Amino acid sequence: MRRFMRVDAGPASEIPEGEAKCATLGQRPVALFSIGGKVYCLDNRCTHVGGPLCEGTLDDFVVECPWHGSRFDVRSGQVVGPPARTPVRSYPAVIEGGRVWVDLP
Ligand code: FES
Repeated sequence: MRRFMRVDAGPASEIPEGEAKCATLGQRPVALFSIGGKVYCLDNRCTHVGGPLCEGTLDDFVVECPWHGSRFDVRSGQVVGPPARTPVRSYPAVIEGGRVWVDLP
């Protein structure tokens, strides 16, 4: 059975709608995105050569890596634009009690 640890990622109000926030949960750098009242969480390391996705630009549900422009769907981590070819890891995130909670493995 897989076990997850639910981690407090801070107040939801700290992530402006349509924007990203950089965070470290446990030892793990992540990128949090707020879209349409929901929050999405990806590993902060682009699968191309490690660009910081939390500093990327967000267009609808797609984040563009600031280094070479790879694009990922923040809902799944799937690649939607090159040069990256490997999906970035995504983690389930919810807002409860005004705070963001992320399930980490
Ligand atoms: S490191 Fe992200 S596109 Fe190159």
